[in-house]
Amino acid sequence: MKQTPRMSSDSLKIGMAAGAGALAASLIYFLSADESTTSGKVPKSHVKPHLRVFVSGAAGQIAYSLLPLLCSGAVFGPATEISLQLLDITPSMGILGGVVLELEDGAYPLLRGIMITDKPEEALKDADVAIFLGGYPRKPGMERKDLISMNCQIFSEQGKALEKVGSKTCKILVVANPANTNCLILRANAPKIPASNFTCLTRLDFNRAVAQVAKKAGVKLGDVQNVTIWGNHSATQFPDIGTASIRTRNGAMKPAAQVIADDEWVKGEFVVTVQQPAKPYSMQGSYLQQ
Ligand SMILES: NC(=O)c1ccc[n+]([C@@H]2O[C@H](COP(=O)([O-])OP(=O)(O)OC[C@H]3O[C@@H](n4cnc5c(N)ncnc54)[C@H](O)[C@@H]3O)[C@@H](O)[C@H]2O)c1
Repeated sequence: MKQTPRMSSDSLKIGMAAGAGALAASLIYFLSADESTTSGKVPKSHVKPHLRVFVSGAAGQIAYSLLPLLCSGAVFGPATEISLQLLDITPSMGILGGVVLELEDGAYPLLRGIMITDKPEEALKDADVAIFLGGYPRKPGMERKDLISMNCQIFSEQGKALEKVGSKTCKILVVANPANTNCLILRANAPKIPASNFTCLTRLDFNRAVAQVAKKAGVKLGDVQNVTIWGNHSATQFPDIGTASIRTRNGAMKPAAQVIADDEWVKGEFVVTVQQPAKPYSMQGSYLQQ
């Protein structure tokens, strides 16, 4: 990115790409959730001719990976043009200018226009989709309650802006942590928009759990179904394979616990690896053994 040489390590690059990938997958699912995805038809949300897409924290690292996915058509489909309405704080406007130059260099045919601003009411106006990446980061020495208090202010203010200038049909995805709490605050401040239009990102945890199960069972990722993540998007969450099933070599679906047959792993290493990816027990294994 011009003016934004922020990706300093390989692990950071992997984290950002995974976050943006999970986010894109979540959006596709969320946008088509009220439409028939099993009929073989393209979901209606994917064939709208034009969407206004709001992104906050647009000068940040997740945005760096996400914006090209939005512009390429990977999220809204190849028949939908988008206009980006990008928000960040005043000190980040220079970086955001670099992001715009980078996107222009991409010459995405589906990108109709880009607006950048540090004013929530400008950026949220008439947005069809709103993705909230921007928030106050947790800094050394900060307690969770300090983070919640800082972000409570940000999300109250942005929720009020959404209520004032946003579209009643806007679909909203909150990513900035604490994502569940921020989403609740946003929703409380924008009551004109139905509660069902709000969601927050737990997809990353779900993806991580599916990958661990697939690796342990030696199957492809697509062969794992119905893994559950209970609780908040935090270290207190509980990944659960009680309802999960796995497609075996002969094509039959079997309970995941039966295929894995390692209760100690299910209750120990699996839970910790999904809850706290910074402490990976094992980077070995393969999904491709079948
Ligand atoms: N839910 C999940 O699964 C998940 C996954 C990854 C990251 N996250 C969260 O997503 C957020 C973004 O991550 P990142 O790595 O891009 O962080 P980052 O620090 O690189 O970027 C955050 C951006 O938000 C901006 N910002 C700060 N206050 C703002 C405000 N009031 N209005 C608009 N913008 C504001 C900052 O200037 C910065 O550009 C973080 O809160 C992170 O914890 C959540």
